[in-house]
Amino acid sequence: MLRPLLFLSALIGLAGATVILNQDFNDSSVLNISQCPITFYGKKYEQLYVNITSGNVTICFNGFFNPQTGQDCIVAPPFNTTSAKAGIVSEAPVSPSPIQANLSTIKTNETCFVRVQHVTTVVTDVILFNIGTQAVLKYSTMQSGTFLMDALVNGTKVDTFNATGSGAKTEAYFDISGCRPSGGALFRYDAVITSYPETCSGQMCDETAVVRNFSCGPSERCQGNNTCMFDSTCTVSGPAVIDIHGQVNSVQDRCAYTLMSTPSVPDLQVLANFQERRRKDVSFVDSVTLRLNTTGVRIDLKQDGRVQVDNTTLTLNSSVQLIHGVELSKDQTGVIAKVSLSNYTTSVFFDGKTAQIRLKGPAGKVPSLQGLCGNSSSSLSELRLSAYSAGGCETQYNETTNSTINCNMTTERCNLLKAAPFTACHSDIDPEPYITACNNTLCKYPVVDGLNCQFLEAYARACSLHNITLEGWRSNVSCSPPQAFCQGKICSAHEFCAEKTGCLCRAIFASPYRSTDTLGDPTVCSQNSASITLVGCLLMEKGIDYSALHLKDQNCTGQMDELTNMVTFSFNSSRTCGMEVSTNNSQLIYKNAIMTQNSSGIITRNSQFYIDFSCFYTQPGIKTMGFRIRQISVIKQIVSGTWNYTLTMKAYTDAGRTKAVESNTKIQLNQKIWVGLETDGLDGNSVAVVTDSCWATNQALSNGSLRYDLIKKGCANSADQTVKVERNGQGTSSYFSFNMFQFSGNSTDLYLHCKLDLCVTQNNTCNPVCSGGSRRRRSARLTYVNAPTLITMAWTD
Ligand SMILES: *[C@@H]1O[C@H](CO)[C@@H](O)[C@H](O)[C@H]1NC(C)=O
Ligand SMILES: *[C@@H]1O[C@H](CO)[C@@H](O)[C@H](O)[C@H]1NC(C)=O
Ligand SMILES: *[C@@H]1O[C@H](CO)[C@@H](O)[C@H](O)[C@H]1NC(C)=O
Ligand SMILES: *[C@@H]1O[C@H](CO)[C@@H](O)[C@H](O)[C@H]1NC(C)=O
Ligand SMILES: *[C@@H]1O[C@H](CO)[C@@H](O)[C@H](O)[C@H]1NC(C)=O
Ligand SMILES: *[C@@H]1O[C@H](CO)[C@@H](O)[C@H](O)[C@H]1NC(C)=O
Ligand SMILES: *[C@@H]1O[C@H](CO)[C@@H](O)[C@H](O)[C@H]1NC(C)=O
Ligand SMILES: *[C@@H]1O[C@H](CO)[C@@H](O)[C@H](O)[C@H]1NC(C)=O
Ligand SMILES: *[C@@H]1O[C@H](CO)[C@@H](O)[C@H](O)[C@H]1NC(C)=O
Ligand SMILES: *[C@@H]1O[C@H](CO)[C@@H](O)[C@H](O)[C@H]1NC(C)=O
Ligand SMILES: *[C@@H]1O[C@H](CO)[C@@H](O)[C@H](O)[C@H]1NC(C)=O
Ligand SMILES: *[C@@H]1O[C@H](CO)[C@@H](O)[C@H](O)[C@H]1NC(C)=O
Repeated sequence: MLRPLLFLSALIGLAGATVILNQDFNDSSVLNISQCPITFYGKKYEQLYVNITSGNVTICFNGFFNPQTGQDCIVAPPFNTTSAKAGIVSEAPVSPSPIQANLSTIKTNETCFVRVQHVTTVVTDVILFNIGTQAVLKYSTMQSGTFLMDALVNGTKVDTFNATGSGAKTEAYFDISGCRPSGGALFRYDAVITSYPETCSGQMCDETAVVRNFSCGPSERCQGNNTCMFDSTCTVSGPAVIDIHGQVNSVQDRCAYTLMSTPSVPDLQVLANFQERRRKDVSFVDSVTLRLNTTGVRIDLKQDGRVQVDNTTLTLNSSVQLIHGVELSKDQTGVIAKVSLSNYTTSVFFDGKTAQIRLKGPAGKVPSLQGLCGNSSSSLSELRLSAYSAGGCETQYNETTNSTINCNMTTERCNLLKAAPFTACHSDIDPEPYITACNNTLCKYPVVDGLNCQFLEAYARACSLHNITLEGWRSNVSCSPPQAFCQGKICSAHEFCAEKTGCLCRAIFASPYRSTDTLGDPTVCSQNSASITLVGCLLMEKGIDYSALHLKDQNCTGQMDELTNMVTFSFNSSRTCGMEVSTNNSQLIYKNAIMTQNSSGIITRNSQFYIDFSCFYTQPGIKTMGFRIRQISVIKQIVSGTWNYTLTMKAYTDAGRTKAVESNTKIQLNQKIWVGLETDGLDGNSVAVVTDSCWATNQALSNGSLRYDLIKKGCANSADQTVKVERNGQGTSSYFSFNMFQFSGNSTDLYLHCKLDLCVTQNNTCNPVCSGGSRRRRSARLTYVNAPTLITMAWTD
């Protein structure tokens, strides 16, 4: 009575178990196990042939055991009787699964099992578990010892299993899974069945014992020697970013962004800076930066082909330079920076318009990429790097759409990527993201600066990275080969490279100049110099060659700053460059102009150009000093022979003699003063007033010992260049001008004396003839009518 109880408890002991079959048999039996088929080493069976009579217990799948025929069998240790039980049980999985606990190769739960059981003084079970495409053999007996079992596949022993137990218990699990493609030879887990090294493809037995085709994983490429490598490219062209998954993103602002950073290559970060070009509302990738974060080294690839390592510019050519572990080289098509870190090789290509970042590394796992090139789920603002951007990068600008852009035509252009010869690359690289990026950009930005070829070029280059050459694509779509960067020019921060012309002004920078139609900044006036700075790119837009410009003195040309491309013209007190000085009240005006070269021939090819610029000064060093006139005017009544007239001496601060010096007018040292000697009551037809001489003394006496001559014998004292006799001997008034001065020393008083004559006019011969230099003579025919008159004007400070 004990035996059936044991049997039942063993069979039903599992929670959720359902007995499907439970039958006694003697000697041998054929079991239908279609309700719990067993996949024995990759071959699925629905019949079981059990023979327990011949010593060993044989459990075969394709007919009773016969050592002469090739069969699939398990040969287990003998049962001691000729009767046994066979059962099929379906069961709910238990947790933790004892099978999975014993066999690491089994990952899925069993669903049912087939059991051959022998019950004498001990209970012995041979159990086959159905685990889908896999199968497990369990041997358990309530005794100790070593129990060996053979697994035969097509009559050949493929495994010997050793169940060894101690105490009154032996229990062991064995994996009887494998693959037999087309019922043929046995392959174990992960074994390659067939392989094509050149394509890295073939068939293998996978980890669930299923025959599976293999090839390189997504974003992986075959190296031609059965080796797959992770190999993915991200393209940034203009405002568009085509990430490694083929998603298209578009940068709207003028900021720096992380393009790529990955925990697989922790020391490297690739950034891109976006800037506007012709339109304020469209940004283009402007520079690409590699940041090696353990060393803090920063390598910038600039739009004009320059490479800066930290702040030092490198001179690159086609031979590779190794800088901080980064291989840098440059050719006609662009600059390439290549760095190998942590088993990954990152190559960054940049041609000023398009950046391509290629990451190559071990196959197997796709590195998680952060940045615009990788994780498309992160928002743009998370990837923005304000610290690396020019100020105010997030500001949005609006511009009216350019009505001349025809989006239908640009779409047609972009769709060229759908046709030959690009089709040769379609299976490798999807052209759609490139077409989208092309359309988005060309539909809102004028097709200039080579933009109509830019996206085709980017696609063709991505193809070439996969060794696909698109023969003759350039001539097919009328694109010329890449040209030297910026025509060899170095553009400043406020400029961008235009393919045909060189460096042009960026829209936001140029906007204030364009709206006011100016070419530069206001004149900068300092103590004794003046300068004006013109913007090189604005001059170029207007077709003006800066080297043809000069100040009034032709030898004074503009200086071009190599870094900023700004042209500066300047003059100062020692290098006057044709400057003209005049005064206006207490101000001195220094005047000059920028103009184009006077053409030496009969034609000129420079557009005519003229910019006035002036500086207004209060003469330095005299701020506290001011002269005041003691008498506004000096009037003298003169009766001389037949002549009876009044003589007035007056000072003015302007050449037109409209602003008379008043008692409160402060005259500065070196300020130009006009002095008029005016008469009333004289007949201008017959006499003229001639100023014979004027001089200054520091005392009221006209013959004081300290004397300074302004006019001598009717002519300006040639020793004082500031004195100008403006009118003398012509009519009834005479005028002269001079720059205010003071006597050295303590004396601040100044007396201005003039001696006048009346001259009888005879054919306008009263004006003294003065020649420059020292030779002075007076007209011999000058006839004076009487003794000279003296008049004095007093000044003080
Ligand atoms: C079982 O095995 C014995 C001994 O080898 C053999 O004589 C007998 O024919 C087998 N039974 C069947 C059904 O093959
Ligand atoms: C039982 O199997 C073992 C192991 O394969 C073998 O050595 C032995 O000869 C077999 N016994 C009989 C009676 O076939
Ligand atoms: C078979 O019987 C022998 C002796 O009677 C015993 O030693 C052995 O454990 C038994 N084997 C099984 C599987 O019951
Ligand atoms: C196996 O069964 C356990 C217990 O029910 C369950 O937790 C687990 O998810 C199952 N595993 C699989 C691969 O289905
Ligand atoms: C079976 O396994 C036991 C314990 O691991 C070992 O002692 C014994 O030698 C093994 N027997 C064979 C035939 O491999
Ligand atoms: C199985 O074995 C038989 C001979 O026993 C042989 O003819 C046949 O080719 C084998 N099949 C395979 C797939 O190995
Ligand atoms: C296969 O080729 C690649 C590239 O040529 C090489 O880097 C790699 O070491 C090769 N792998 C093997 C296993 O030969
Ligand atoms: C370098 O980058 C890693 C990962 O991006 C970061 O955890 C680490 O702090 C960085 N180190 C420095 C010095 O910036
Ligand atoms: C590079 O120049 C910038 C600005 O001129 C400065 O802020 C930065 O510190 C410099 N970097 C190095 C490494 O010299
Ligand atoms: C690079 O690859 C080798 C071989 O696969 C591996 O042993 C090593 O850990 C890898 N190094 C890094 C930094 O992942
Ligand atoms: C730009 O235009 C958009 C839509 O027309 C508007 O929402 C936005 O406020 C404008 N921005 C500026 C700075 O004018
Ligand atoms: C508008 O686009 C045309 C070309 O399509 C270009 O020549 C022109 O300069 C653009 N105008 C403005 C204001 O951007």
